[in-house]
Amino acid sequence: MMRQAGRYLPEYRAVRAKADFLTLCKTPELAAEVTLQPVRLVGVDAAILFADILLPLEAMGAELVFAKGDGPTFPHPVRTREDIEKLRTPDVEESLGYVFDAMRLVRRELDGQVPLIGFGGTPWTLAAYLVEGGGSKHFEHLLAWSYGDPEGLARLLDRIADTSIAYLRGQIAAGAQALQLFDTWGGVLDLQRWRALALPPLRKIVDALQGTVPLIYYVNGGGHLLEGMSELPVDVLSVDWRQPLSKVRRTVGPRVLQGNFDPAALLAPIPEIERRVAAVIEEGKGGGHIVNLGHGILPMTPVDHAKAFVEAAKRLSVRS
Ligand code: CP3
Repeated sequence: MMRQAGRYLPEYRAVRAKADFLTLCKTPELAAEVTLQPVRLVGVDAAILFADILLPLEAMGAELVFAKGDGPTFPHPVRTREDIEKLRTPDVEESLGYVFDAMRLVRRELDGQVPLIGFGGTPWTLAAYLVEGGGSKHFEHLLAWSYGDPEGLARLLDRIADTSIAYLRGQIAAGAQALQLFDTWGGVLDLQRWRALALPPLRKIVDALQGTVPLIYYVNGGGHLLEGMSELPVDVLSVDWRQPLSKVRRTVGPRVLQGNFDPAALLAPIPEIERRVAAVIEEGKGGGHIVNLGHGILPMTPVDHAKAFVEAAKRLSVRS
């Protein structure tokens, strides 16, 4: 499994040429089509819904723009307690029903061939985009708020958690067979501040979804957070490539791990990719392991390299 759809596939770019990114997300037939592409073209053993973690923030009333080449932006960032009060608690069927429709289409098309994974961002990571107004290098606004008025920021995170719970429950109702929570920016916090700021709203989501479908928690750049992550009652811990899985295991024990092939290593020659897949599998021994990339696939990845990765992972891993 890896972050699948996207710009490295010519077939994705062909669909994308006809529709901008948000239109693609909001047109269930197109979203379903690009969700299925990696399953058909690359042979991955799970489908991951084509959507974006930022969509529920738009549903909460924050204008979201995907400008060409700039990534996502929120022209009206949320930076004060008054700004929080202007956000809605949306009816997710009404405002995000297009996601659920796409999922139902995908499940029907897949007809049980591979499972469908849904996803969302963690409140901390979603707030990072909403407060900064888009991507950021240093997250000054978010971090200033976290030091200046942690209770106010906690209120925002809690509002995001509530909408996320409704949204993720909607995904389960629409057919998600597992859910991945992406904490792309959890790693900017030290362990103590991660526990104080990021964990409570994340824990609220995890508790609300307990006993539904398997939950996967992913942190990027979170090697220093492993001790905290390991206490989270999720089924799978997903990690980036920055440290070997054997070392991750020393902190988290025999839990199911997901990862952690360096996406940039897909740019290496195919024999080197195969060697590195074998190494990742070797490193992952000592507990369950879902072979995956350690972060999203890079747009310039050659398709035959992505295929070589999937084939090697299937050939070399022992199913348990
Ligand atoms: O595998 C998939 O493509 C499934 C769907 C998916 C997308 N975004 C589609 C997308 C998933 C799982 C995401 C998650 C996501 N989105 C995250 C968390 C995972 C991570 O990468 O850390 C984050 C932080 C976002 C927010 C986001 N969306 C950013 C920062 C960008 C710009 C990326 C860039 O490199 O320019 C997006 C756009 C986006 N989301 C694209 C896709 C396929 C590219 C859109 C395009 O075609 O132009």
